[in-house]
Amino acid sequence: MSASKRFFHDVKTELKPWTNENFGGSADSDEFNFIIFGDRAGRPLADVTKDAIAKINLLNPDFVMSVGDFISGCCYEDYSPGFIQRQWDDFENMLKECEPPFFRVVGNHDIPSQTEDGGVLAHAHDMQTKLWEKQFGATYYSFVFKDVLFICLHTMEIFMDISETQLEWARETLQKHSDVKWTMVFGHLPKAWDMPNWEKLADILDDRNYTVFAGDFHNYVRCRRRGRNYYIIGMTGTESQHAGYPPKGVYYGEFQSLTWVSFKNGEPQLSLLALDEVYNDDVVTIPKLTWLTPSYFQADQPISAEEADKLEAKGLKIHREIGEYYL
Ligand SMILES: [Fe+2]
Repeated sequence: MSASKRFFHDVKTELKPWTNENFGGSADSDEFNFIIFGDRAGRPLADVTKDAIAKINLLNPDFVMSVGDFISGCCYEDYSPGFIQRQWDDFENMLKECEPPFFRVVGNHDIPSQTEDGGVLAHAHDMQTKLWEKQFGATYYSFVFKDVLFICLHTMEIFMDISETQLEWARETLQKHSDVKWTMVFGHLPKAWDMPNWEKLADILDDRNYTVFAGDFHNYVRCRRRGRNYYIIGMTGTESQHAGYPPKGVYYGEFQSLTWVSFKNGEPQLSLLALDEVYNDDVVTIPKLTWLTPSYFQADQPISAEEADKLEAKGLKIHREIGEYYL
């Protein structure tokens, strides 16, 4: 498979909303894996974000998708561009460590939803749109990876919905790629699913295989709409929506996670990885064990005859080799 057949996109801006194009996996195989990075807005936890990025590198997916909300954005104390930019700098500095390509999708804290009233949020929408474009170019875009179409929407372009222009672009993109194996639609707001232009987009999607991914809730939920899987991806480095309360756990969808998507036999399969339960292989090593236990636990090292006698007297089984003693 040539590089251009493996990955091509429709982004015309010089800046790109992804970090690099060093895709993993085999160029010759149709199968691939990617990770979805969840929401981290509200009360970002830098240590969890750094841990998530280190574990992404460990798991080595072909690339990383996201569902937006990388920064918290405006707050009532400060609506200045400098305040927003500092938040971007913090996140982007962490993201530099992420080795696979990372595809950014706009969240409502990255660019607040457009409003009709021209109030503070309308100002923030315009200002944060400029900051996004200055750093990453396009706010919505598509790409094809190994015959799977990825549509990355901006669900705050008008009030909690995609605009007419974006809908037309999506319609043309879907027509142009009518023969792909599967279509993956990413857009931050699940609320947009009930909005008029999103509904029209869903009508167009009806005649193909597709899956939808959103964020925003901080709780993971699998939904069924129109007979398809619509996922709300949970958190990767923020607190739950219930401020001040610890996350309730897996069965409430409230846990720090990375979502692993395996594209096998032409269909996506999801596995949720609880971040706390992904370990590096140095989780247990002999030096760590000897820190926890007496040094004679090192079974590959001989112990003295006196120590062997003492331990045997205590009831431990000693392996006696010629002149050497082992537990
Ligand atoms: Fe959000």
